[in-house]
Amino acid sequence: MIQAPKPDATTGEAVIDCDLKELYYGSFKAVRDTRIPIRKGEVTAFIGPSGCGKSTVLRCLNRMNDLIRGFRFEGHVQFRGNDIYHPGVDPVAVRRHIGMVFQQPNPFAMSIYKNITYGLRINGYRGNYDEIVEKALRGAALWDEVKDKLRQSGLSLSGGQQQRLCIARAIAVEPQVLLMDEPCSALDPIATRKVEELMTELKKKYTIAIVTHNMQQAQRVADQTAFLYVDTSQGERTGHLVEMGKTEQIFEDPQAEQTRQYISGEFS
Ligand SMILES: Nc1ncnc2c1ncn2[C@@H]1O[C@H](COP(=O)(O)OP(=O)(O)O)[C@@H](O)[C@H]1O
Ligand SMILES: [Mg+2]
Repeated sequence: MIQAPKPDATTGEAVIDCDLKELYYGSFKAVRDTRIPIRKGEVTAFIGPSGCGKSTVLRCLNRMNDLIRGFRFEGHVQFRGNDIYHPGVDPVAVRRHIGMVFQQPNPFAMSIYKNITYGLRINGYRGNYDEIVEKALRGAALWDEVKDKLRQSGLSLSGGQQQRLCIARAIAVEPQVLLMDEPCSALDPIATRKVEELMTELKKKYTIAIVTHNMQQAQRVADQTAFLYVDTSQGERTGHLVEMGKTEQIFEDPQAEQTRQYISGEFS
């Protein structure tokens, strides 16, 4: 289990301190020299071209890479001052605090209601499920659309609703951090806007880290932006953090030439 943090254990306002010196899948070094603090109550966006390691880094934050054969890294990931990769830490407990929403909406093949209560049931929670379901669906801006059909399958909803259902499922266990890997890339523009508006609401209560391909989206929703890169034109295969800062600074006054070229669309 994760220990309660010592009062002085949280580095500044960073709720997660992620420092990946070298990260491997088998013999392939996928990421190097990437230190990203995730600040409390903010949205941090990871941007960069395909293959630069955005999803890999995001998955490190709640041990989602654990199941990938050959995955290992040097460095550390701390959540509120505690090493989440410490041998005594249960990854399921980590994910209870640091939830995840994926690119493709992936409701379980069960009712809307059971989708939301799933995490509570596996955690052995005994309490008022009806209240939690309503609260989670309201929190995900979905309640009004589904309150009369909670027993219908989650798969009967539209894509945008399914993604908000997945967000409701993630927040039902009241995590502190939500990780989202391109949560809008399978959605149409209207559903995308809804999810973006929802993120702005959610960050009042949760810390959010999001991977996005969409630079307008990063500018609309993110407080901090991290630019990762792998220069394949130079034969490079290992992605790394180029720079990170306040979103306005990254988009208006990038420090690295590679960032400037990427945000101006010179490559994608
Ligand atoms: N499960 C895996 N096994 C081996 N290599 C992987 C795996 N997942 C990703 N990679 C490789 O790691 C690098 C980073 O991938 P990824 O994190 O998915 O990048 P991004 O999300 O920025 O597109 C790529 O070269 C990719 O091919
Ligand atoms: Mg990815």
